[in-house]
Amino acid sequence: MHHHDPDHEPTLEELREALTEEFWDAKYEASQRVWSGNPNQRLVEQARDLAPGRALDVGCGEGADAIWLAGRGWDVTAVDVSTVALDRTAEHAIEADVDDDIDVGVYDAMAGRPKLRRERYDLVTVHFLHVPREDFDDVYRRIAAAVAPGGRLLVVAHHPADVESGVRPSHGPGLLFPPERVLQAVRDVAAWSVETSEAATREQVIDGAPVTVTDTVVRLLRNR
Ligand SMILES: C[S@@+](CC[C@H](N)C(=O)[O-])C[C@H]1O[C@@H](n2cnc3c(N)ncnc32)[C@H](O)[C@@H]1O
Repeated sequence: MHHHDPDHEPTLEELREALTEEFWDAKYEASQRVWSGNPNQRLVEQARDLAPGRALDVGCGEGADAIWLAGRGWDVTAVDVSTVALDRTAEHAIEADVDDDIDVGVYDAMAGRPKLRRERYDLVTVHFLHVPREDFDDVYRRIAAAVAPGGRLLVVAHHPADVESGVRPSHGPGLLFPPERVLQAVRDVAAWSVETSEAATREQVIDGAPVTVTDTVVRLLRNR
């Protein structure tokens, strides 16, 4: 990746490299802990009032969201392309004493393997999985298909406003997306009711400086 060179427009191949097991294993191996260990604020806001059931967390990273869900009574399947991340999720689940409630599994969202639809989930969450615009519809449709009728899809991502305001480096052309993009992608999968579709701001510290960032937050209810 060449994010540091402002004159270099990454190619589609380079963007896709950032969604491989090699890339993420190396990133996780380079540090003991990449993420905070706290659940994502948007997950807490969007899921705290939901009755627990079966949940799928796609791109679970080190497992903080899966552990929070399990602690609220959800039966969680946590998947990621990185086996290093999955080992950490499993380890943290044991530490949090919720390992009986979390299954981990390898899933490559770009390849759609293994198929997620073997089972249907009452909640499917995806936090900060930014994929090239060429792949967006395929990736998010496959994920949405794992939502049970009457279940919910929660997608949270960095909003393109963060690039415009300069608080965040571009993840590459078109990688960040506004809320409307999600419904546009998944509307062919099923009929949905839009429960949340917003650009929501929050305070964050990036490189030591407090900044206001914007999240894309989308919560869709799959109609029965
Ligand atoms: C920005 S991190 C977010 C992690 C976690 N969801 C969170 O919010 O803290 C993106 C995660 O997606 C995973 N990922 C990247 N490419 C993937 C792919 N093709 N399939 C599944 N997961 C992928 C990475 O390993 C990483 O854990």
